[in-house]
Amino acid sequence: MALRKKAAKEKAKTAAKKSARKAVKLKAVKKPAAKAAARNGLPRPSPKPWGQAGRALDGVRILDFTHVQSGPTCTQLLAYMGADVIKVERPGVGDITRGQLRDVKGADSLYFTMLNGSKRSITIDSKHPRGKKILDRLVKTCDVLVENFAPGALDRMGLTFEHIHKLNPRMIVASVKGFGPGPYEDCKVYENVAQCAGGSASTTGFRDGPPLVTAAQIGDSGTGLHLALGIVSALYQRLRTGRGQRVLCAMQDGVLNLARVKLRDQQRLQHGPLTEYSQYGEGIPFGKATPRAGNDSGGGQPGWILKCKGWEDDPDAYVYFITQAPVWGAICDLIGKPEWKTDPDFATPPARLPRLRQIFNTIEQWTLTKTKFEVMEICNKLDIPVGPILSMKELAEEPSLRATGTVVEVDHPTRGPYLTVGNPIKLSDSPADVRRSPLLGEHTDEVLRQVLGYSAPEIAEIKASGAITAPDKPAKAEAA
Ligand code: COA
Repeated sequence: MALRKKAAKEKAKTAAKKSARKAVKLKAVKKPAAKAAARNGLPRPSPKPWGQAGRALDGVRILDFTHVQSGPTCTQLLAYMGADVIKVERPGVGDITRGQLRDVKGADSLYFTMLNGSKRSITIDSKHPRGKKILDRLVKTCDVLVENFAPGALDRMGLTFEHIHKLNPRMIVASVKGFGPGPYEDCKVYENVAQCAGGSASTTGFRDGPPLVTAAQIGDSGTGLHLALGIVSALYQRLRTGRGQRVLCAMQDGVLNLARVKLRDQQRLQHGPLTEYSQYGEGIPFGKATPRAGNDSGGGQPGWILKCKGWEDDPDAYVYFITQAPVWGAICDLIGKPEWKTDPDFATPPARLPRLRQIFNTIEQWTLTKTKFEVMEICNKLDIPVGPILSMKELAEEPSLRATGTVVEVDHPTRGPYLTVGNPIKLSDSPADVRRSPLLGEHTDEVLRQVLGYSAPEIAEIKASGAITAPDKPAKAEAA
């Protein structure tokens, strides 16, 4: 019996070691070279039915050193795609967001839970000598390290790119920083700082008001999405080169990328006024920089937000209405102005530009007689592009978003069920893996044992060293 136990233990140990060495590799192509070339060096198509050949990033292991929002957005998405994401957190404290904006006493906040789904959590003090050794072992077994510390923090932990690459030349090291190399590279950056520095705030809001930040987290979540693309690109290149590389996404760059149409307009300004901006029609001269344009459409088709039935009591009873040129005739008929179809002041897009306010005021007289959903239904039948202003309440309750897995309800051991945003990117052969966020250190033992191959006595010794447990007086996360 004892012998059998010993043999089983040995087997488990070998399996753990094997799994510790696991990394994404191209399967050796055994077919003749000509045939392999015809398949571009890739394996044969899987004989398994669609959706049953695993997930897109199965076999990719991520050492997740991210916190707050930008980095976690990236690693959560990779986890949804099937990567094994191991989030390293400081013992006793964890990601600062676990305790920020708390709504349920004693439970991880929604801020944390909605950005860290489908991950495992391990606590390691990265400055403890024993903790450093564990991290080195993780570096050897992972494919990607993702971090969004303040500039220099990773190096101060001893995890320089050189050190990482010496341990594991295949590792991809991906970082979010506030700014790229330049005068501000050492600055700490949060969402709204990035929105301001990336050109979004100066071009958002109304002309006669101050710059505005947007609710969509284009600085944090937007940059996290950019980083995820950088990571999968680097993984793909690694299939050919066998080596990892650095991936850097600066939040300023990410915001500017999303605000590129405003840089387009900046250049257009040198050749004359921006005719689709309503200030042009109102005769207000342009300055030297792209102005704020209120709710003007960002494209060449004029649009505006209009009141709908019930707006007096419902702050979201509005619709975005676009006067797209090909359906101008249908719009004129709909709003009871058929004569505008032939009136030279209204018949052509250039003629309409100086009269946009009058046009939208007239259309609003019609939208005020309908709910935003009625406007949507009527206009869509006529091919007129409109968008109802949907509240978060309406989105949370929208059945079609539940059906597609864009809004998902997951259960959590301390806070109960909560809603999260699932994978907005749908892959037909890779079902999304959307699970609840982990408790702080929930998988510490599991990762040490299964991934790193530590024995039970070794784990006990690591615990006693203080490398994975909270210090006597743990720093406090912000209370709710
Ligand atoms: N064990 C021990 N120490 C740990 C640890 C662990 N597991 N995890 C983190 N730490 C330490 C870091 O080493 C660092 O210590 P150091 O400054 O003494 O070297 C410290 O915790 C704090 O890290 P830092 O990133 O500076 O956090 P911060 O709260 O001071 O700053 C940000 C937060 C977001 C402003 C900053 O991280 C940043 O600018 N990040 C890049 C841009 C970004 O992603 N911003 C958007 C966030 S949504």
